[in-house]
Amino acid sequence: MSQQTPAISPSSASQTAQGTEPSPVIAVSALAKRYDSGFEALKRIDLDIRRGEIFALLGPNGAGKTTLISIICGLVNATAGKVLVDGHDNVTDYRAARAKIGLVPQELTSDAFETVWNTVRFSRGLFGKRPDNSHIERVLKSLSLWEKRSNKLIQLSGGMKRRVLIAKALAHEPQILFLDEPTAGVDVELRRDMWEVVRELRASGVTIILTTHYIEEAEEMADRIGVINRGEIVLVKEKRELMRQLGRKQLTLHLQKPLASVPPALSHYPLTLAEDGSVLIYTYDAASEPATDSGEHVSISKLLNDIEDAGIRFKDLHTEQSSLEDIFVNLVRERQ
Ligand SMILES: Nc1ncnc2c1ncn2[C@@H]1O[C@H](COP(=O)(O)OP(=O)(O)O)[C@@H](O)[C@H]1O
Ligand SMILES: [Mg+2]
Repeated sequence: MSQQTPAISPSSASQTAQGTEPSPVIAVSALAKRYDSGFEALKRIDLDIRRGEIFALLGPNGAGKTTLISIICGLVNATAGKVLVDGHDNVTDYRAARAKIGLVPQELTSDAFETVWNTVRFSRGLFGKRPDNSHIERVLKSLSLWEKRSNKLIQLSGGMKRRVLIAKALAHEPQILFLDEPTAGVDVELRRDMWEVVRELRASGVTIILTTHYIEEAEEMADRIGVINRGEIVLVKEKRELMRQLGRKQLTLHLQKPLASVPPALSHYPLTLAEDGSVLIYTYDAASEPATDSGEHVSISKLLNDIEDAGIRFKDLHTEQSSLEDIFVNLVRERQ
């Protein structure tokens, strides 16, 4: 695993939409939040969400994720700044903005003694939508809740209650769905199910914004990732680009005989010796290396030839690519 710190310029943090792109489904500008306690939870956030994407807002506990989505959804007032939801200002045009949004909250807040069916149906009514039992039925079926429709919430498992929260959020047919830590504390199987549900929703055209402190969730699900730390968005990037640009690769060679030092013939390579000279490590930037048709890095085959020419024999070799987790840890560490 690479220990190198990726070079990230702060100026890249808010680069999102380019000139040719369609208008964002959510546009957040200069958004700030200071709680009554005086605590500054958000510091001038600029963020655009693209129509139809899965956007993961990734950050440690206390970073400001829930505050940010609560402001976008109109549950918490901002101290400064502006939010447009599909062109509607979420303060001056609150009802239109809110109708576009479904929110699956972090905490379970539903009435424990109500049935699944009534809970979800009632939620639709809250948005002034006409009753539509066939829509509610579709939603419950898609979340495997249909068999439980007459159960009271209190009779359901934690995982089923979470599904009810999603069903509630979908009852009024929103175009945008926020999921605040959807899989925190749920078992692996349910997490997989939730991911599947989210993918199906995206396929049906819904824009998804999920917050998470699980790197693997962002890595698995997102089209784009925004990293938030201490109330600041420190980076927004396509997941693929993030992985490619920041992913360091490391080639490790276990030598047949230990070396006292790297031979001069190889001194132009970024090589280091480890484990008393018995391991040779080559660290490189996976993105900057020219690749051949087969996808292998040209410089690696050259390196291996040069190593052989220098009379070094190895027993074993392997490569490792740094995960989003390494990138995240480096980013957050860098800014403390
Ligand atoms: N009502 C509040 N009053 C004062 N501070 C708050 C309030 N709500 C949240 N905070 C603080 O704001 C910061 C961000 O919280 P939150 O948005 O819940 O973070 P996250 O969802 O990323 O864990 C935390 O330090 C939290 O303690
Ligand atoms: Mg939170």
